[in-house]
This record gives sequence, structure tokens and C-alpha cells, in this order.
Amino acid sequence: MEVVICSDEHEIARLAADRVVADVEGANRPILGVATGSSPLKLYAELASRVEAGDVDFSHGEAFALDEYVGLPPEHPQSYRHTIMRTVAQPLGFEGSRVHVPNGYTADLQGEAEKYDAAIVDRGGVDVQILGIGSNGHIGFNEPMSSLGSRTRVKTLTQQTREDNARFFDSIDEVPTHCVTQGLGTIMDAKAIVLVAQGAHKADAVAGMVEGPVTASCPGSILQLHPRVFVAVDEAAASKLQHAAYFRHAAATPLDPGV
Ligand code: GLP
Repeated sequence: MEVVICSDEHEIARLAADRVVADVEGANRPILGVATGSSPLKLYAELASRVEAGDVDFSHGEAFALDEYVGLPPEHPQSYRHTIMRTVAQPLGFEGSRVHVPNGYTADLQGEAEKYDAAIVDRGGVDVQILGIGSNGHIGFNEPMSSLGSRTRVKTLTQQTREDNARFFDSIDEVPTHCVTQGLGTIMDAKAIVLVAQGAHKADAVAGMVEGPVTASCPGSILQLHPRVFVAVDEAAASKLQHAAYFRHAAATPLDPGV
């Protein structure tokens, strides 16, 4: 896991965008895994400016979202389909028909979840998955105690996650109780992962994810087993890392290509 401690959210966005662009380089049809939440919004804005500059092109690409609430119609402004279209797909130039979001508004949630995993495999897999992390260590909506090998399926949201997300709704009673989320095993199948986190309220989750142990109690810790993970965090989110000095040293000591 490559961890970079950044001075601010602009540096996070810049370095994370560099990595995303590098991870899709050469792909005629880049497959981008996209996350909702506030954490990657600056990264999406930075990627949109790279698209505008002609550094990267997603117009032939496909986007796969991590998760969706159960019971919200797709046109609901807080549905993740709506959110992903507004905050990621349109600014980055993805064509609407090539933006995939798990279906949380169907009688056959499990059948649709299985089709979702099959569609990712059919497109050749996700080239790079963008992630945030929940304050309880969840990635996607894989709450603590999710199976480390799980595939896309229905999950019950924790009360903490519902409270964290209540800011987007008129009241907590309106926050759905369930979701459909890519499993931890599905996320781990991505060829590369770029995770961003900001703020002191993410410090415990970041420490658990980066420094372990690998445990279902902190679902993000499964990423320690992935061979290509880039983590960009600010000082506050890094504040509980025991190995912060090493991460700073490694970032300040690039390999001399002549060696
Ligand atoms: C939601 C999403 C996650 C996201 C998390 C953190 O629960 N399902 O994908 O990482 O929120 O959100 P934020 O970035 O707003 O803190």
C-alpha cells in the first residue's frame, strides 16, 4: 500500500488524479470504478479538468458505481445513480448508457446484484477503483463484519452510517435502512485502487485500514492484500498512523532511475 500524506485537499486531488490517469493510460475504453461521498469530489473536479485539457478521455469508457440505497427510485436526488451522474459521469464525459449503478429499486435485489458482478467481469474488470472510507472503516457500503470475500449483495446499514448520511436528507427517518453494495471481494478484483480521505473523523478508519490487522471489523483493511493501492490522505486523517514517519520518508525519497 502506497500512502501519501498531503498538505491539503488540493494536493490529494492532484496526486490521486495523476494515479487514476496513469492507471487508465493506453486503455481505449477505460473502466472506472466510482464512489459517492464527499471525499472524492475534489478528485472528480481535478479529473474533469484533465479531461478538458485532453490528458484523459472517458467518452468511450464505462463507469461502475460501488453501491446504491434500497428503495429510492433512480430519479430521487439522493439515489446514488442520480449522485454519480451529477458529480462524476457528466463532468468526466461518460455517456449515460455506460454508467452502471447497482439496482436498489427492484423486487429481485439478489438477482440484479449477481448480474451486476457479471457485467463487471464481462467488460474485463475495473481498471481503477476510486474509494473513500466511512468513519467506521467501511468501503462501498461494506459495514464492519462484512465477509472479506463478499460479492455484490444487500446489506443492512449501521445506525452510524445512517447518521453520517442523514445530512443529505430532510431527516434520519428518510435515510434508507438497506443498500446494495459491491462486496469486498468484488472491490478487490479491481486492477488498481485509489483511496482518498480527509479529516480527523477518518483517522481511526485510516489507521485500521493501513496498519491493520486485516479484519472484518475494519472492512477497509482488506486492501492490505491488494497489490496496487494508492492512498492519499491529509494530515488530520493520517494523525493516528504509527508509521507516518516512514510514509513521509518514502514519499520524499523517490527511486533514482540510474540505480
Ligand atoms: C458512503 C459511501 C462510501 C463513502 C462513504 C464516506 O457510505 N457508500 O462509498 O466512502 O460514504 O463518505 P464521505 O466521503 O462523504 O465521508
